[in-house]
Amino acid sequence: MSFFPPGHSYDDGVLHISGERADQLAETYGTPLLVLDLREIDASVARLRAACEPHGVRISYAGKALLVTALARRIDRLGLALDVSSLGELATAERAGVPPERVTMHGAGKDAAELQAALDGRVGRIIVDGIDELGRLARMPASKRGADIILRLNTGIEAHTHDFVRTAGDDSKFGIAPHEEAEALRLLASAPTLRLRGLHAHIGSQIYEAAPFAANAQQLVAAMQRFTDAGAAIDTLILGGGFGIATHPNPTDETLDLQAAIAGMVASAREATSTLGLPMPSLEIEPGRYIVGNAGTSLYRVMAIKRYDRRTFVIVDGSMADNPRPALYGAKHHVVPVHETPGGVHEVTLCGRSCENDELGDMLLPLRLKAGDLLAMCSAGAYTYSMASNYNRFLRPPIVAVGDGPPQLYARRETIDDLLRCDVDA
Ligand code: LLP
Repeated sequence: MSFFPPGHSYDDGVLHISGERADQLAETYGTPLLVLDLREIDASVARLRAACEPHGVRISYAGKALLVTALARRIDRLGLALDVSSLGELATAERAGVPPERVTMHGAGKDAAELQAALDGRVGRIIVDGIDELGRLARMPASKRGADIILRLNTGIEAHTHDFVRTAGDDSKFGIAPHEEAEALRLLASAPTLRLRGLHAHIGSQIYEAAPFAANAQQLVAAMQRFTDAGAAIDTLILGGGFGIATHPNPTDETLDLQAAIAGMVASAREATSTLGLPMPSLEIEPGRYIVGNAGTSLYRVMAIKRYDRRTFVIVDGSMADNPRPALYGAKHHVVPVHETPGGVHEVTLCGRSCENDELGDMLLPLRLKAGDLLAMCSAGAYTYSMASNYNRFLRPPIVAVGDGPPQLYARRETIDDLLRCDVDA
């Protein structure tokens, strides 16, 4: 029961997050509540920096993991660049005042407005995800300033938590396949204001091993050679995100050796470029989860406990609407009581309150847990709020940031008025 992301501890029997009493936060802001520990964000960024800076590897934050204006501003102040994957994320970056040259536009299927944003200079670079997209961009009226282009390639490396495979890319919708590269160059030649700057490949998420990152680097250098041979000048390789974080108390659970992963990818790129007689390109990474995953903790209030012969269900006031990860991916989050509760633990199934089975995980919780008690779900910073929905017309929770002065609201709770705003009285 004692696994916590850093910054979490029991003091006088009450869970504290970066020095703030979790029960007080729940009282002030209500539940469900996402608590964001800014010290943990700073610490994750410092770890990334320590691993990357000696090798000159540049870091962007992948905003899809979690993005609201105040967080975008903080990430910018920390000196990281920002990846956005939609007009909505771009608008958030703009509202935060992130300079366009530090923003890169991603997206696996960009609409006309997103492509136009790149041509209008609202982002520093656009990562083009496919031949059709490149064709659409090339046919749009050329802007005077043009656009810096990175091509997302399908390197055929797909990493899973414990493994990686070379699939020849057939199993991935992302990127440009090797047999499409000549067409990509032809399209770029037809649109001289589109300047090809680099190549990109992201191979998966929550990866614990260093080897797939190194393999990806090697494949990107091989692609760099093909593009160089065809007359293109490539000086940047972006190796994606996907750096795994520990989310579970089991001491045998894997964690990623970040230093080794970064050093391995750099060594792999260096070796491949020197073998092929290519100059060493600038390398970049774009982590999301690594930066915010363990900084986020969801606070829930227990609504009911239902004890049956074989199972006990603990129903909280959150649901798959504020955290769809257990339902979508079978993701496991570590959950602890906010108040230390003596008297032993037993196995329960934690459930959300939506009109579905909505299981949030099987876990050990105190035998004496009762309705009204508070629970804290750890490692909930990444892909929870950003993937939240209004299922059952539930309201999205607020985000409160702690660890840098008094608690600060980053997002208020949605209201019924927010919810009804898009309805039309037809
Ligand atoms: N770059 C690209 C192009 C990506 O598609 C992603 C994540 C990242 C970077 C950041 O990956 P990270 O460092 O956060 O692993 N919803 C899933 C994860 C989906 C990842 C999508 N792409 C989850 O909750 O586990």
